[in-house]
Parts: sequence; structure tokens; C-alpha cells
Amino acid sequence: MIVAKSKNELREQLVKWRHAGEQVALVPTMGNLHAGHISLVQLAREHAERVVVTLFVNPTQFGAGEDFGNYPRSFETDTRQLEEVGADMLFAPNVRTVYPFGIENATQIVVPGLTEKFCGSFRPGHFDGVTTVVARLFSLVQPDVAIFGQKDYQQQLVIRRMTEDLSLPINIVTGSTVREDDGLAMSSRNAYLTNAERDIAPALHRAIEKAGEELRDGRRDFDNMEQQAHDLLLEAGLQPEYVAIRRALDLSVPTDDCVEFVVLAAAYLGKARLIDNVLVTV
Ligand code: PAJ
Repeated sequence: MIVAKSKNELREQLVKWRHAGEQVALVPTMGNLHAGHISLVQLAREHAERVVVTLFVNPTQFGAGEDFGNYPRSFETDTRQLEEVGADMLFAPNVRTVYPFGIENATQIVVPGLTEKFCGSFRPGHFDGVTTVVARLFSLVQPDVAIFGQKDYQQQLVIRRMTEDLSLPINIVTGSTVREDDGLAMSSRNAYLTNAERDIAPALHRAIEKAGEELRDGRRDFDNMEQQAHDLLLEAGLQPEYVAIRRALDLSVPTDDCVEFVVLAAAYLGKARLIDNVLVTV
């Protein structure tokens, strides 16, 4: 596996692959890799001859008072895991490479509307940072395919919208959420949980899964269902930010003809902000 840190190293290799007529898949990450990330690398393999994983803890998507400084970093272990799974390149740029004119002067990409609700309303500016960096990673790597996780449901919708709106010739693929045995979605932030909190954490998945089952059974009083899931989280000891049942396509309020739902939730547990979602097709 090639480890590239500069634009030149990246481009040199990309040119070779392009000349050989090989397609490139991109998996953007912030590192501290777990089985969820690795599953995206494996999925990328199915879509292109070459897989580039980026590792960049993007400062612009963290709000003031969020965990940018403490975000877990584990470059050596990440590199080893990527070698093992057969990624072709790890691109790990520094802030100057991604933001040549500095963060304050960076050209911004903003997707209005979709970014203002749910995670966007609790983390103002977060998605602007995400789209701004992902657009940069897209133009650096120029992939044919880019892979994102369903775990960050709103994020992958926002990136799909950006890609379509800018007519970027990139196929966005979403990989399903990888979970621990007890249902907890894998996340770099699970490392913040104490042992006692770790025992409580699967309640998040249980609560949205229950709402999902009821949707499948035909229940449609969304407000009550959201309230019920919210109460379950509180009872378990989590502090919910939101629980919502929405149309999977665009996060709008479901109408009677809706057949694809997503149940989304975010909650704090100690220092960790946990998010999860389930898709329900009826
Ligand atoms: P990060 O949190 O490192 O996640 C990288 C990718 O892994 C994202 O597409 C995310 O949805 C996916 N992922 C996380 N947990 C997962 C799980 N349990 N199962 C499957 N996929 C999972 O998301 C980001 O980084 C950043 O916002 C980024 C897109 C890299 C932009 O900076």
C-alpha cells in the first residue's frame, strides 16, 4: 500500500492508474478505523480496481467546544488495518494540503435545507465543514466512485445532493452500518464510553429498531412513536437530541404513500454523542 501525504505523491500514482484504464474508488475517513470503515474499503473493492482511503481529521466540521483536539488518532494501527484489507493507497494530507489558503480563507461548499435539520441543527456549521472537505477530497482524488456509511445517514444524503447539484461525475455508494454484537453501531466515538455507559449504549439501537418494527406492523402515529423512542432513551440513561421518523429519500415528513422510512436518532451518553438510524421499507 502506498502512503501519500502530499498532492504530488497522490497525483503521480493516480496518473499511472488512469493510464492503465483503472477505475478509482475513494473512502474518506477521519481515521481511528474500526470494522465499519473496513467494510467500506471492502465495498469499494467491488466497485473499482483501485481503492484510495483518505485519513484527515477535518477541523472545519468540528464546532467550538467539540472534540477536534481529543478526536482519537491511531495512524499506525490504521495503516496496518488498511494494508491487511488490501487498500491501494492511504492519502493522509495535512491541513495546509487540504486548505492551501488556510481555513479562514477556504472556499466553502454549502448545501442549504437538508443540512439545517437533525444533526445540522445541533451542530451548526458541521455539514458545511463536511461538504467543504469532501468536495476538496473529490477534486484531489477525482474518484469514479465514493463510498460513505449509512451510519451517518444525513451526511450521505447531503453528499449525494452536493454531488448531483454540482454534476460531479462520481457514483456515490452507501455501505450498511456495521454493529457490535449487542447492536451498538461502531463508531470512533464509542471509545469515549465508560464501561457502565457501554452497557447502556445499545438502548439507542433498540429504541429506533422498535419504532422500525412498529412501522413494519403498520403503525403510523409518528409523533407518538417518536415520543415513545425518546422516552425509552431517557429511561435507559441517554440524553436524546432528536428521534425522528422521516422519508428516507429526503428526510421530509412522511406522507401516506411513503414506502421507505428512516428512523434517525442522536443522543448523548456521558461525553459521547451517539447517532444511529434504521431504514424501513414497507
Ligand atoms: P468518519 O466518522 O471517520 O467515517 C468515515 C466513513 O465511515 C463515513 O462514511 C461513515 O459513515 C462511515 N462509518 C462510520 N461508522 C460506520 C459503521 N459503524 N458502519 C459503516 N460505516 C461507518 O464521516 C466522516 O468520518 C467524515 O465526516 C468524512 C466523511 C470523512 C469527512 O471528513
